[in-house]
Amino acid sequence: MVTSANSLKKGGVTILVGAQWGDEGKGKWIDILAENTNIVARYQGGNNAGHTLYVDGEKVVLHQIPSGIFREGQTCALTSGVVINPVEMVEEIKKVQKIIQVSPDRLWLSARSHVISPWHIWLDGKKEKEAQNPIGTTKRGIGPAYSDKAARVGLRLGEYIDPVRRQAWFDRMSYESEDFSKLAKENAEAWEAFHGAAEKLASYVCNAEQNLRAAMQHSQTILLEGAQGALLDINHGTYPYVTSSETCSGGAFASLGFAPKYVDKVYGVAKAYVTRVGEGPFPSELHDEDGAYIAKQGNEFGATTGRPRRCGWLDAVALKYCQEVNGFDGIILNKMDILTGMQEIKICTAYKHPKLGLIKEFPWDGNILAECKPVCETLPGWTDPMPTSGKIADLPENALKYIAAVEQAANCKVTMVGTGVNRTDGLFL
Ligand code: GDP
Ligand code: IMO
Ligand code: MG
Repeated sequence: MVTSANSLKKGGVTILVGAQWGDEGKGKWIDILAENTNIVARYQGGNNAGHTLYVDGEKVVLHQIPSGIFREGQTCALTSGVVINPVEMVEEIKKVQKIIQVSPDRLWLSARSHVISPWHIWLDGKKEKEAQNPIGTTKRGIGPAYSDKAARVGLRLGEYIDPVRRQAWFDRMSYESEDFSKLAKENAEAWEAFHGAAEKLASYVCNAEQNLRAAMQHSQTILLEGAQGALLDINHGTYPYVTSSETCSGGAFASLGFAPKYVDKVYGVAKAYVTRVGEGPFPSELHDEDGAYIAKQGNEFGATTGRPRRCGWLDAVALKYCQEVNGFDGIILNKMDILTGMQEIKICTAYKHPKLGLIKEFPWDGNILAECKPVCETLPGWTDPMPTSGKIADLPENALKYIAAVEQAANCKVTMVGTGVNRTDGLFL
């Protein structure tokens, strides 16, 4: 069990997964826990992610590079299940370089990962614009890049950095698609940047999965950084209002190329309330002053797109479901400080459906979920300020009661609590 930032199992693999619809504070917690690991790897998603951390008081938002990069001596890896925007990656490396040195021995980009091109970004925008029911994507080309991967027409990073293979892909796509060919002519600048980034990234591209397996053989401590959240998982999330990758702990193994038996612990990061960006069902969503209060206190705007995040009470039906799907060994209950000052706090412990009555299990069907109303337990709030470090037991009494209610409803122990934005702001058991 993690009792401090130093206590991840040495030589083990720990997975940290978003336990809601993303933006739970994964970046900050990875940065905290990375202090004593050797490698932090991201296994899915792309630059749809926006992970915020504060390094020496300076705010940094990472979209592709894992949030362990600011720890001295740490290696960061992106493995086969990730999609990479090469132009953005070059910019992100430059951004991080201003704070800490980044070199190919500190950043491994999997040759197997798939590349996001201007074509995918254009397609994402077009689909969203023309859709009857848009998903509210980040328009970063994520869905189309994964579609091409599954259709076996994608471009892998290892091929992208080879000018001959990159050109062959480009020519084939131009030949097969009129739209692609048109876009290639119309948007020459974006394509120039796309081709230009290849040389700059080449030295980072490697057999990242093999490196990770070798690191495990040498008893290195590995932390896996989930992006998005379990409810945005392509298989287990609120389909079709999901992202296009496997965000849950099980998805990690396919991407990393190693066996589940090596995993030591899985933690789920959940906000003490819930937010969601984009479309899709959200039973505990608030449209009243409590929702506005949480949005304001929590500064709930997307780290990638700047869109306002929809806010609601903690949904324990969904959290319990995420615990079951991911096998959480503990929940990291984050942003607890945001609820300070509220008179009453609610937890959604069941749903009420007009035809099906009381529902206690998270439904597979988004249409049913959209018709559900939350059934809530009400708890007293607290006004005392919260400690930002130390023990969970040091929290105000009503905050502890709230945590106990979350544990009971979600059937999982809360093992860490977040009460501030900094890399020191974590409470442990
Ligand atoms: P991620 O995508 O899961 O890494 O989360 P984001 O970075 O998109 O959103 C989390 C936001 O909450 C960021 O602005 C963080 O700086 C902030 N944050 C993280 N943990 C805490 C916390 O415990 N308290 C407060 N007040 N803010 C936090
Ligand atoms: P992090 O890692 C919150 C949402 C989008 C949209 C849906 C599909 O910062 O938690 P996509 O562009 O992936 O095709 O969009 O998923 N989404 C996120 N929401 N946090 C994220 O990442 C997200 N990444 C994608 O808003 O609803
Ligand atoms: Mg985010």
